[in-house]
Amino acid sequence: MCGIIGYVGGRACRELILSGLERLEYRGYDSAGFALLDEGDGVVETVRAVGNLARLRAAAGEDGGSDARLGLGHTRWATHGRVTTENAHPHSSADGAVMVVMNGIIENYLELRHELQDEGVVFASETDTEVIPHLIAREYDGDLASAVRAVLPRLGGHFAFVAAHVDEPGRLVASRRECPLVLGVGDGERFVASAIPAFLRETRDIVVIEDDEVVAIEADGLTIWDGAEIVTDRAVQRVDWDEDAAEKGGYETFMLKEIHEQPSALWDTIGDRLKPDGSVDLPELGLDDAALARVERIHIVACGTSYHAGLVGRYLIEDWARVPVHCEVASEYRYRTCLAGPGDLVIGITQSGETADTLAAMRVARERGAHVVALTNIMGSQATRDADGVLYTRAGLEIGVAATKTHTAQVMALSLLALKLGRLKWALTAGGALDLADELRRIPDAVEAYLASPAPAQVMEVAASYADRPFFLYLGRHVGVPVSFEGALKLKEISYIPTEAYPAGEMKHGPIALLDEGSPVVVVATDGHVFDKVVSNIQEVRARGARVIAVATEGNSEIERHADDVLWAPRSPALLSSITAVLPLQIFAYGLARARGLNVDQPRNLAKTVTVE
Ligand code: F6R
Repeated sequence: MCGIIGYVGGRACRELILSGLERLEYRGYDSAGFALLDEGDGVVETVRAVGNLARLRAAAGEDGGSDARLGLGHTRWATHGRVTTENAHPHSSADGAVMVVMNGIIENYLELRHELQDEGVVFASETDTEVIPHLIAREYDGDLASAVRAVLPRLGGHFAFVAAHVDEPGRLVASRRECPLVLGVGDGERFVASAIPAFLRETRDIVVIEDDEVVAIEADGLTIWDGAEIVTDRAVQRVDWDEDAAEKGGYETFMLKEIHEQPSALWDTIGDRLKPDGSVDLPELGLDDAALARVERIHIVACGTSYHAGLVGRYLIEDWARVPVHCEVASEYRYRTCLAGPGDLVIGITQSGETADTLAAMRVARERGAHVVALTNIMGSQATRDADGVLYTRAGLEIGVAATKTHTAQVMALSLLALKLGRLKWALTAGGALDLADELRRIPDAVEAYLASPAPAQVMEVAASYADRPFFLYLGRHVGVPVSFEGALKLKEISYIPTEAYPAGEMKHGPIALLDEGSPVVVVATDGHVFDKVVSNIQEVRARGARVIAVATEGNSEIERHADDVLWAPRSPALLSSITAVLPLQIFAYGLARARGLNVDQPRNLAKTVTVE
């Protein structure tokens, strides 16, 4: 959470900082700020504003021709301190000489704050970040890098920060611990940012910074310290990311664009992994086939939408491979007695590769000797560094805060793993595996055909007709349960309408009391062995006067007799409806939020990456 950027080089950087921040806005948008420094003039401009980047631009006004060649900026997701201008970054030392932007949390900040206050330092904000510029100022003796290296061991927690000093207007110093920070190397200029898209338009050459390293960057150079040692062998890597990923490409929102990118996310995630004979190649798992065949138990840990993908993964793996799967939210798993151990496979699912709870749960399992795999969308993310192996989704950058294409790509990646395990465990015959492989290959085309059909527009229409409803109940059975969870999460996070999602069979043990005349109930009623059971549950809610919005498989006309509205989903085998049935639910949430006039890409209080516990 929070996005940081710094620039030093030969160009006037005001616009580079602002547009870089806009590309990091998905990381938080409670408030934002930047500071520019120039040789001779010191700090030439500092602007901070509550709200998103548009508010910062408005507060900053037109560029009055600033030619400052060093800048640092921040977009905030508040942790310590309210959303106010005083708490927006950059934060400064008392004399204004040191400026800092930070992502993360300084866990011992209260102790440090009291220590500094006892020395007479007066704080200007409620943030944990502010201790850093004061500590640096206290250590500063003409060399910013030495001061930062002296301060680093005092800082507890996980963070990434960038610091500047007015007396060194050609230099930025940065450090990180368990929060992302990457350098961009241009011609006579250097960038430092929380994520590559911040500077992707300017350079594709990057340098990775490891935990607890300190880096000093200047227009033509960079120096990395690991403790007292200078790191001499850090390679520059070239990324081949698609620059357009950070643009809306003609769509009204990133979320809508990303919903439409699902066919390619699914195709690319299958890629060359699925062979014509139905076998699956996943070399990055870090387990060869013999070791994978010996896995007796799987634990899946994840948060939010990724957790819902994990729940689907449980159905897939248990059905196709007959391996027991335990799936749990990472924030609970990390604090329970962990029973994973050698021989177990633990899969941490995190699209960003940064979610603090998922990383912690993965570490707990790894310490106990389990083989830990990161299922993530971000190459080189912290999750990949903390794991024994990786399974990448290839969904491309996702910017809308509500996960869509990364979710369906996660389910596809888990399907590939389930298929592979199914063969290795002899739970699937060669013919059975071949059939499933064919079904998997058909899914991206089915999704593409659906998105190009009139169905999405019809879903939008139905959604708009429910825009004034105060509450929705979501129900499903079997794999429809995680699908209903995901549909309900999408609706609540972008429309702010309270939702409850429940296994349909459990409904009469409590949630049915919520229903009243006209209450909308979204029921996942796709074809499969529980279809008739779901229809019985539909009768039960209709008997209480509820209105039923059914998600049903294209061509199943029977459902029309039972539902008030039908959202059609592409035809697929029952288990893979976990991908196809989620599409109308994404669009339903989208249509409803738009009908309420809301900003779906930046729902309130949320951020795309959750790097705090
Ligand atoms: C909801 C959503 C969140 C994330 C959750 C985990 O649309 O996006 O619930 O799924 O914060 O994030 P990752 O997958 O990055 O660990």
